[in-house]
Amino acid sequence: MRVLLTGGTGYIGSHTAVALLQAGHQVTLLDNLSNSKAAVVGRIAGITGQQVGFHQVDMRDLDALTHALADSRAEAVIHLAGLKAVGESVAEPLRYYDNNLVSALQLCRAMETLAIDRLVFSSSATVYGVPEALPLTEDSPVTVATSPYGSTKLYIEQLLMDAAAANPKLRVALLRYFNPAGAHESGDLGEDPNGIPSNLLPYITQVATGRRQVLTVHGDDYPTPDGTCIRDYIHVMDLAQGHVAALDWLDDHPGAHPFNLGTGQGHSVLEVIRAFEHATNLTLPYQVGPRRPGDITASFTDPTKAKRELGWQAKKTLVDINRDAWRWQQQNPDGY
Ligand code: WQD
Repeated sequence: MRVLLTGGTGYIGSHTAVALLQAGHQVTLLDNLSNSKAAVVGRIAGITGQQVGFHQVDMRDLDALTHALADSRAEAVIHLAGLKAVGESVAEPLRYYDNNLVSALQLCRAMETLAIDRLVFSSSATVYGVPEALPLTEDSPVTVATSPYGSTKLYIEQLLMDAAAANPKLRVALLRYFNPAGAHESGDLGEDPNGIPSNLLPYITQVATGRRQVLTVHGDDYPTPDGTCIRDYIHVMDLAQGHVAALDWLDDHPGAHPFNLGTGQGHSVLEVIRAFEHATNLTLPYQVGPRRPGDITASFTDPTKAKRELGWQAKKTLVDINRDAWRWQQQNPDGY
């Protein structure tokens, strides 16, 4: 199938492009390069031996978006583009609502114009807010999220559910990611955040290369076995395969369908550090600091629905995540 990936040169997008190509799909990338590099296009070609199309477009420009979508002859879209820094969204809510909501709305308009009716959307476990019970399932209550970033994910899910209710041909998978981490095994693709990483794994690997001095563990006084927060870290290549499985599943499933994409295993920050040290034989310097505002104590999923419906489950371990993240960082100490 011909698939267009918005946000395709980004962290999740680039790995998903590799998985799609290796599954026999044709891929076109669309990105405004506000938080990624065009060099990724060549890396994807190097890994797969296949060329991908690329359009540098701001999705809020409806004409440019529609032209790029028509030019790609896409039969399906995977929508990954969006601003995604939780803390930044609290400081700049209007920028996040404008970018993320208007981009999604323009995409729906362009797809309607071109009669494209298959969409996979990059949502987030953050739509569950502070979990009332764990593990989280797709039936767990969604709530106004704990940040404007998370709220944009929730509002876009609602927009897509309403669009699917109005158009019986529209088929949408709402993929609620838990904590994506790791890198492609080649070391040629990986997480390359702008500036100081907010996420745990890229911060760890930048400390290990000496680019950062020390990892600060944001609080060790949570009600968890070792006092640090628990998350469901999912290898980015497992996550990429989840997109391929969701795309195939959409063929005969009209409507909008949420899926939690996680491993079902929760790990604490200290467990991640130990897994990194085990994977690399390095000792990671860290210090314990104050809690980070907005952090929740624990989040992990029950992965049953994705396994039952999509025939998909995560296979890689926390050690795999750390080993692959470290290989990427060693081979690309300054990113792309
Ligand atoms: C994980 C744990 C931190 C950095 C966010 C978004 C989510 C998705 C993934 C976009 C927490 C601790 C972190 C550090 C630390 N984003 N930590 N020191 O906050 O669970 O999820 O990123 O799609 O939607 O909400 O991920 O990696 O920032 O933090 O101790 O230097 O690591 O406190 O407990 P988070 P994270």
